[in-house]
This record gives sequence, C-alpha cells and structure tokens, in this order.
Amino acid sequence: MKFFITGTAGFVGYHLAQRLLDDGHEVTGFDALTEYYGRGIKLARHARLARSPRFRAVVGRLEDADLLARSMAEAQPQIVVHLAAQAGVRHSLEQPMEYVSANLAGTLNLLAAAAAVRPQHLLYASSSSVYGGNVEQPFAETHRTGFPMSVYAATKSGAEALTHAYAHLNGIATTCFRFFTVYGPWGRPDMALFRFVEAIERGEPIEIYGGGKMARDFTYVGDLVEAIVRLTATPPILDKPIGPADSLSPVAPWRVVNIAAGRPVGLLHFISAIEAALDRTAIRKLLPMQPGDVVETSADTSLLKALVGELPATPLAEGVAAFVQWYRSDWASLQT
Ligand code: NAD
Ligand code: UGA
Repeated sequence: MKFFITGTAGFVGYHLAQRLLDDGHEVTGFDALTEYYGRGIKLARHARLARSPRFRAVVGRLEDADLLARSMAEAQPQIVVHLAAQAGVRHSLEQPMEYVSANLAGTLNLLAAAAAVRPQHLLYASSSSVYGGNVEQPFAETHRTGFPMSVYAATKSGAEALTHAYAHLNGIATTCFRFFTVYGPWGRPDMALFRFVEAIERGEPIEIYGGGKMARDFTYVGDLVEAIVRLTATPPILDKPIGPADSLSPVAPWRVVNIAAGRPVGLLHFISAIEAALDRTAIRKLLPMQPGDVVETSADTSLLKALVGELPATPLAEGVAAFVQWYRSDWASLQT
C-alpha cells in the first residue's frame, strides 16, 4: 500500500516508516527537519529510511500548503498518518507561536491536501496532554478534555477538533490517537530518558521535576508502532460503534483512541530502571513542578484492545535497556 507520513525524520515517524518499509509498503515522508532539537539525528533517521528504494522524502514545512498538496497528489496515498508537529510540553510556554503555526495551521493544510486525494483512512497523532486538568483516572477517550494545561496541549486538542470537522465535511475515515510519553531507541533528545542517560553518562546531575512525585504511562515505541499499524486497518465507520465505550462521533467517521501501556510508572522508579540499565548511579537534583506539566498520566486502553486485540507490552526494564544499548552504540558512533 501507499502511505503518506508526516514527521518521518522524527522519533515516532522514523520507527513507523521503517516498519512499513520492512513490511513492503511504499512510504512518502514529509518533514521540515526543524531545529527544535539537533538536526543531526533527524538527518540520520531519514538517511536510514532512504536505504529503501520504496521511501521518498519531501523536505518542507506543513505551513507550505502548495508543497503539501503537490506532494500528496503525487503520492496518491491510501493511508495518511500525520505525526509532524511542534512537540514538547515545556517548550510551548517559551515559543507558543511555533505550536500554533505547526500544529494548527499546519494540520489544517494537511487536512485540505488529504481531502483532495481522499485516502481510505487518515490518522492523526494527538497526545495524552489533552486530558490536562481532567481528574478522572485512568484517562478514557470519552472523558472531558477541555482543560489544557499547556499551549502544546491546547494546540493538540484544537487539531483534534479540526480533524473532526474535516471528517464530517468530507466523509474521510479519521482516527486520532493519543500517545502517552513514548520512549525507546532513536528517541527525542529533549525528553526525560535521553536527558537523564546523557547526564548520567557524563557524570552530571539529572534535574528531576516535581520532586520526582510524578508518574507517566511510559509507552515503548515498538509497541506503539504495532498499535498504529493495526489501527490503520481499522477505520471508523459512521453509525457503527464497536461497543458502548467507543468514542465514535455521532456525525462523522471519526474516533479517538489512547495508545499506551496502560501502566503508570513513578518518575523515581523510571530513574532506577535507567540506573540499572547503565549500571551507574545518578546525581539527583530535585526541582519543583514545571509550569504546564501534569502530575500523572494513566491510560484506559480498553478501546484500543477492543479495536486491535492484545498488544505486545515491552517491560520497562527491557525498553530502557534497548535505549541505553542504542545510545552507547549507534548514537555514540554518530557523534564521532
Ligand atoms: P519529533 O519532534 O521527534 O517529530 C516530529 C517531526 O515533525 C520532526 O521531525 C520535525 O522536524 C517535524 N516538524 C515539526 N514541525 C514541522 C512543520 N511545521 N512542518 C513539517 N515538519 C515539522 O516528535 P515525536 O516524538 O516523533 O512525535 C510525533 C507526534 O506524536 C507529534 O505529533 C507529537 O505531538 C505526538 N506525540 C508524541 C509523544 C511522545 O512521547 N513522543 C507523545 C504524545 C504525542
Ligand atoms: C511527552 C512528550 O514530550 C510530549 O510531546 C507528549 O505530548 C507527552 O509526552 C504526552 O504524553 O502526550 P512528557 O511526559 O513531559 O511529554 O515527557 P518527558 O519529557 O519524557 O518527561 C517525562 C517525565 O519526566 C515528566 O514528568 C517530566 O516532568 C519529567 N522530566 C523531564 C524531568 O523530571 N526532568 C527532565 O529533565 C525532563
């Protein structure tokens, strides 16, 4: 099949594209290689994908509506997966307009380009952060999400709403996934796992926010990709909910689904797993909660399981060890 994926130079997009190429599909990857974090790792991810003759990269911004429409028209994809975004919760308080531009204006352009080629299924990466100030745990797709605690969360929530409007207006089957703190090899240098491993390896202190009293439903990237691949084959159908807990829209072939391990882990436990994998002890610097952060994320994964069945669940120790192995081999050799 033909896939059009935005964000292929990014962490999740790279893994998804690699998996689809391995499965024999054609992938057009659209990414601006932005400078939010070092471009080196983005170039390296794209270079690896380019080893396949079935991968084609388009370097451009989502804000370039003409380029996006032209690339989509050339690719004629059956499946569109929209992962490109300005990510990161805490940075969104410093540079809010980057989020509005990429995540709202960019998503609108993506939806317009997709409406012209009418894929069988469009999938959009939203975030656990949209649950924001929701106090019901674990977070279920049918819970209220109108309480964003960061500009990032507000733009991801707004983009979900845009995908719904387009699904309603154009009848294109659309799935929004909500990812929960994804980790693994080729991960993002701005996220906790990368920052902690880098600091511990250098003998520098790690900065632990919220005094360590936070928890995340950490999701291993390989498990996430398996869920995405299975969901691509499960488009929502108007008026055909799969059960009472379905988040299916009453007016569009549109649903939202959590993708997570369904197992919140305390930040201090996460740090212990990193220390064990590195066989080194961290120097801990406890800091207050950062503005925009939520205390705990925990996903109800029953809708996901109802849609795609039981999924692999990589144990935390194994997933963290896979990152450490990558960091000490591929990443280290990229630095020399
Ligand atoms: P990432 O930053 O590694 O990848 C995003 C990619 O999008 C980057 O390669 C970047 O160059 C590209 N990009 C950014 N702005 C762009 C623009 N205006 N035009 C074109 N390309 C642009 O992030 P990721 O971790 O791979 O996240 C992928 C998606 O999943 C994002 O939508 C993110 O919001 C969402 N998400 C990620 C996590 C996580 O824990 N990694 C959790 C929840 C949601
Ligand atoms: C992650 C992604 O960065 C977001 O793009 C995504 O939308 C979000 O997951 C999500 O689940 O939707 P976050 O949970 O903040 O956001 O991811 P990390 O940066 O890996 O942080 C994990 C935990 O470690 C958080 O509690 C954070 O406050 C903490 N942290 C992070 C530290 O204590 N120190 C650091 O240096 C970095």
